[in-house]
Amino acid sequence: MRKPIIAGNWKMNKTPAETEELLKELKPLVAEANATVVVCVPAVDIATAARVCRGSNIKVGAQNVHFKASGAYTGELSAEMLKAAGAKYVIIGHSERRQYFGETDETVNLRTKAAVAAGLIPIICVGENKAQREAGYTNALVEYQTLIALEGLEPTQVRHVVIAYEPVWAIGTGLTATDEQANETIGVIRSAIARKYGKGVANAVRIQYGGSMNPKNVKGLMAQEEIDGGLIGGASLKAPDFSLVVNYDK
Ligand code: PGA
Repeated sequence: MRKPIIAGNWKMNKTPAETEELLKELKPLVAEANATVVVCVPAVDIATAARVCRGSNIKVGAQNVHFKASGAYTGELSAEMLKAAGAKYVIIGHSERRQYFGETDETVNLRTKAAVAAGLIPIICVGENKAQREAGYTNALVEYQTLIALEGLEPTQVRHVVIAYEPVWAIGTGLTATDEQANETIGVIRSAIARKYGKGVANAVRIQYGGSMNPKNVKGLMAQEEIDGGLIGGASLKAPDFSLVVNYDK
């Protein structure tokens, strides 16, 4: 009942010319996809990506957004700017932003509200690091990260957001959560949403898994009941690999 969503997170990779090349190669390979297909590209590539993907089933996303509409925030980009450039989605609170750029749960919440207000669909990242998992805090942490990110949104807005459960220890490491671990934690996230916003909303929200997802492990992960898609880093940088992930059900 939930349409799967496979999103590429290109991180700090690809110039506009390389973006054009990759997306031209990708378009025909994913044209028959059953999942929603998104590529979250560097901000300077959004306009190029939107132009190349126009008329195709590939949607364009950004990787971050500032929470103010405009003003003296050197280096930042507003939700309206990203939207005008062609973005439909935006990743918020990726663990690399939390780890390296001081992103907090509070700013994730502000960015989420700004994105939703502008009509962008946020892909909100949550997930525990290795020490937190080993100490048994995973469930409490992802519940808290999720609910605080959504604080202040109406239930009708919450149903359209995308959550990405990305265990930090699985990102870019080649380690993946087992299918069952990922399914269980995503179930915990969905239950938290159900308690606060109701079952109907929780059943509508798409929750992805992310962390070393690739053509080899995608089938097993996507076979799990709670997992509605993936946020793909490394394996999204080559069109053939990403298309195999997108077309996991073929
Ligand atoms: P990875 O990255 O697929 O390279 O582990 C995922 C992510 O950080 O979103």
